[in-house]
Amino acid sequence: MIKIEVIKGDLTLEQTDAIVNAANNSLLGGGGVDGAIHRAAGPELLEVCKKLNGCATGEAKITPGFILRSKYVIHTVGPVWKGGYQNETGKLKLAYQNSLLLAEEYNCKSIAFPNISTGVYGFPKAMAVELVREVIDEIKPNLKNIDLIKFVCFDNENFQLYLQVFKTNK
Ligand code: APR
Repeated sequence: MIKIEVIKGDLTLEQTDAIVNAANNSLLGGGGVDGAIHRAAGPELLEVCKKLNGCATGEAKITPGFILRSKYVIHTVGPVWKGGYQNETGKLKLAYQNSLLLAEEYNCKSIAFPNISTGVYGFPKAMAVELVREVIDEIKPNLKNIDLIKFVCFDNENFQLYLQVFKTNK
């Protein structure tokens, strides 16, 4: 039985086997949660990311967590919201799906996500949380290793939305 947790806090403090970074295509760091993860992981993270040759939107790549509490950082790139006519919904779902599949591949038992694309990338929060719920419902039967999925919300709007969606949809 997979446990879903929704908390408000700082993703870089999580102790799950993997945390997911809402990165950009270069994987060379940035602001938001990307910047927070690089600061918390230390400079080795950037050195390793430089060798990954970037990451396409919706794809996911994995690195060690270095001085983070998490063993791994799974870097994924969500879509920039451009009005909803460039398959942003499909790309956001792929980012969550590929992050979960990569965590499975690395035998992670627990994973923590930020609210991908809902910050700088402008994806509407209420739409994003519904897509995340769809992904979780679809992929749950295929997860063999993961037994805890945490959603770490930084802002209150996302926190309330996630509480609503994931508390009432056990
Ligand atoms: N812990 C958890 N969540 C955080 C943290 C943190 N320390 N810092 C920010 N967030 C939240 C934001 O409040 C937002 O809800 O992460 C969510 C994603 O926002 P962004 O970090 O802006 O990521 P995104 O919208 O996917 O944009 C990605 O921003 O930082 C750059 O390099 C990144 O270019 C990329 C773009």
